[in-house]
Amino acid sequence: MSLPRVQTRVPSELESHASTEGEASGAPALHVVTFGCQMNKYDSLLVEGRFLQRGYRLTERLEDADVVLFNTCSVRDHAEERVYSWVGALAEAKRRRPELVVGVMGCMAQRVEGEVFRRASHVDLVCGTRQLTTLPELVDEVRERRRRSGGAGSQGLIETSLEGAMEVDRRSEPYRDGLVGHLAVMRGCDLNCTYCVVPATRGRVQSRPIDDLVAEARWMIEGGARVLTLLGQTVNSYGEDLPVGEGTGRRGRPGLSDLLRALQELEGLERIRLITLHPSYVTRALAEAIRDCEKVDRFLPLPVQSGSDRILRAMKRGYTTDLYRERIALLREEVPDIELGSDWIVGFPSETDEDFERSAAFLDEIGFVQNYVFQYSPRPDTRAFALPDDVPIAAKKERNRILLEAAERSSLARMETRLGGDVSAFVEATAPKSPGSLRARTVHNLPVRFEGDEKLIGTTVRVRIEAASPYGLSGALAEQG
Ligand code: SAH
Ligand code: SF4
Ligand code: F3S
Repeated sequence: MSLPRVQTRVPSELESHASTEGEASGAPALHVVTFGCQMNKYDSLLVEGRFLQRGYRLTERLEDADVVLFNTCSVRDHAEERVYSWVGALAEAKRRRPELVVGVMGCMAQRVEGEVFRRASHVDLVCGTRQLTTLPELVDEVRERRRRSGGAGSQGLIETSLEGAMEVDRRSEPYRDGLVGHLAVMRGCDLNCTYCVVPATRGRVQSRPIDDLVAEARWMIEGGARVLTLLGQTVNSYGEDLPVGEGTGRRGRPGLSDLLRALQELEGLERIRLITLHPSYVTRALAEAIRDCEKVDRFLPLPVQSGSDRILRAMKRGYTTDLYRERIALLREEVPDIELGSDWIVGFPSETDEDFERSAAFLDEIGFVQNYVFQYSPRPDTRAFALPDDVPIAAKKERNRILLEAAERSSLARMETRLGGDVSAFVEATAPKSPGSLRARTVHNLPVRFEGDEKLIGTTVRVRIEAASPYGLSGALAEQG
C-alpha cells in the first residue's frame, strides 16, 4: 500500500500568527494533520465530518485551530518519529494558548497509548483506531475536565478500546473527497505477518455490508465522485466476517466479487480501484468479477514482500512464490492484460544476499508496473521483533537501491508496451507545472499526460501514447468513441 503524505502547513509557521479568525467567526476551528496510508486519509475525512456536524469549521491554518488532531501511522519506526516531531512543534503554541486542545489518534495512538503523554506532555487526548467517531465528545470531555479541575493543562484522556464496531456512515455530511473518492469497505486485518504492526493497531476484520457500501457510494457519486477507491488492508478478504447470504441473492458469504458487481451497476460511476489485495484471497470468483465489470481497473496492488520462499515463511505471509505464480496465472486466464503492483521489504531478519537476489529476480519475472520498497523496521508488538535485526543498515540501503533500479526497469518495460496504442483514461486534474496539460489515469492505473481542455476533467477519454518513462505515459488526445 502506498503511503502518500497529506500536505499541510509546516509547524515552524505556528508561532507567527495569532488565533483570531476562529473567535471572529464564532465557530471553533479544527485542523487535522494526516500521516500514513489512504485508510488514514479516509479516517481523517470521517473525523472532520463528525466535527462539522457539531458546528465546527475546518481551518487550513494549523495556527488558527482550536483543536488540532494528528492522525498517525505506526508501520515503521520513522513514521512514529515524524509524528513526535510534529506534535512536539505544538508545545510552544500550547504554552501560549492553554485552551488549545491537542489530540493524537489512529495507529500510533492505538499502539503506544499513554506513552504519548510521557513524550509530549502538552497532548490532551489519545484516541485509537476504533473510537474515531467519538472524538467530538472526547474533546468536550477534555474541556469539561479542565473546567472542573480549574486547570488548563493536559487532562490525559485515553480511549483505545478495539472492541465493537465503529459507526462510519458519512451520509449525513456533505461529500468532500473530490472526483476520486475513498471508501473503506473493511477495517482491520486477520492475518499476522510477523513484521507487521497493523493487526495490533487496527484489530480484527470488520467488513461493512454491501447495502451500506452501495448507499455510501451513491452518496459519494451524488457529491461528485466519479472514481471509487475501495480500501482494506486485505481488501479481497472482504466479507469473510459477514453473515451468510447478507447483501446478495447468492448462497454463502458475500465477497469482494459481489461488491464489485453491485458497484458496477451504479450510474455516474466511471472507475473502481482497489487497495490492497493479498495473494491468499485471489479467487476465480474475483478474477471473473474483474473480467465482467469494465469499471474495475485492470491493475491490482498485490504485494509479494519477498521473492525468497524461506523469507516468506519467516514473514508468515501464507504463500510461496509458486503459489503466487499460480494466483497470477488464474487472474490472467480471466483478465489477460491485468497489471500488477507490489510492496517489498528488504533486510528482513536473516535475509542473505541470495534471498535478496530472489526478490530482484521475482520482480523481473512477474514484471510489476508499480513497486514500493521498504527497509525492514522492527516493530514492537510484532512477532519478528524478537528476531535479531541482523541485516546491517548499509546492506539494507544497498538492497533498497538495487531493487528500486530493478523496479524502474520493470515499470519502463510495462509502460513501453503501450507506445503507439490508444488507451482509455479518466481525466483527474490539470497537470502541475505544465500549463494546458491534463493528468489522467488509464484503465491499467498508469498515469498519463496530454494537452487538452480543462472541461475534460471528470470524463473518460482516449489518448494516443507517444512517450513512456518508468513513472508514466504521455501522448495526445485520440479520435474519441
Ligand atoms: N495490508 C497490506 C500492507 C499494509 S502496510 C498488505 O498486506 O500488503 C504497507 C507496506 O508496508 C507493507 O506492504 C510492507 O511492505 C510495509 N511494511 C509493513 N511493516 C513493515 C515493517 N515492519 N518494516 C518495513 N516495511 C513494512
Ligand atoms: Fe500487515 Fe500482513 Fe495484514 Fe498486510 S496482510 S496488514 S502486511 S498483517
Ligand atoms: Fe495505515 Fe500506517 Fe495504520 S500504514 S493502517 S496508518 S500503521
